[in-house]
Amino acid sequence: MSNFSGKKRVLTGITTSGTPHLGNYVGAIRPAILASKSDSYHAYFFLADYHALIKTQSPRLVHQSTLEVAAAWLALGLDTEKVTFYRQSDIPEIQELTWFLSCVTAKGLMNRAHAYKNAVQGNIDIGEDEDFAINMGLFGYPILMAADILMFNAHEVPVGQDQLQHVEMARDIAQRFNYIFGTHFVLPKAQVDKDLSLLRGLDGRKMSKSYNNTIPLFLPEKQLKKSINKIKTNLLEPGEGKDPDSSAVFQIWKAFANGQQTEEMREKFEQGIGWGEAKKQLFHLINTQLKSPRERYYELLENPEKVECILNQGAERARAESRKMIEGLRDAVGIRPLS
Ligand code: TRP
Repeated sequence: MSNFSGKKRVLTGITTSGTPHLGNYVGAIRPAILASKSDSYHAYFFLADYHALIKTQSPRLVHQSTLEVAAAWLALGLDTEKVTFYRQSDIPEIQELTWFLSCVTAKGLMNRAHAYKNAVQGNIDIGEDEDFAINMGLFGYPILMAADILMFNAHEVPVGQDQLQHVEMARDIAQRFNYIFGTHFVLPKAQVDKDLSLLRGLDGRKMSKSYNNTIPLFLPEKQLKKSINKIKTNLLEPGEGKDPDSSAVFQIWKAFANGQQTEEMREKFEQGIGWGEAKKQLFHLINTQLKSPRERYYELLENPEKVECILNQGAERARAESRKMIEGLRDAVGIRPLS
């Protein structure tokens, strides 16, 4: 199993079960695109559509979200010459690796996965059977994710805090596989950026689709303005000093502003800027940054064949590696020609 190239490899996946929002942008897309410009890494970014099937059984949603997420990354300037950008389901070797890994993964390890445990606890809380509405996809989710990571021997995996345990499990599984079969999977490390991964949403809690408090990334201008106006504030009037650090308006400002703009806004808060005015300025700040990518985004949504073509090229590159990898692994586990 070769290491493809001398560069360190960074890999992350985006589950295609929703519309990209400002939190995804600030927490994942923007830093990933920035990091991918560095020459010291080779980046792999992919659309985790197999993972989407664990979360939703709406074919329309999975399909539309795949287009939206891909279009968003492309519109925001992802350089697909440099980065290997692909759709998980275009790499059938990932399924085969999932099986190989499943056969060395202790069921007990999966019992300890937070996502699964939360689902079980939720059932207990409502007096249901423990297994109610839990599918095997959810149970085996960390193994599929390990296959994503190990397939490309990723060194670093940028993820949100909630995914940290999954990357650690990928590491455990890799270690076990290496031990049993003498393979050389790289042991991946998670990269968690605690500051950025927590953009706050309309209600002040973490911006997340599951809280229904998101601001979609590419809302048309008017709707963006409306949505920003819905960010929850307190009842302080214009002229009354406001605490920037407890305000979602300020926190979102900070995520888009440079250092100087942030300091200026901090002062305005202390001097009592009205909520309406602060939101107006926030809208302008965000809108200026998103205006041209937004145009490219809608252009791509109208021309899905362009997106499809880019993904196919990415898949070809990724498969050149995954085919080689799976060939070595088949051999390692004893699945090979008889003569
Ligand atoms: N499970 C991740 C999430 O929901 C997405 C994902 C799938 C992923 N495969 C991955 C992230 C591999 C990093 C590496 O956010």
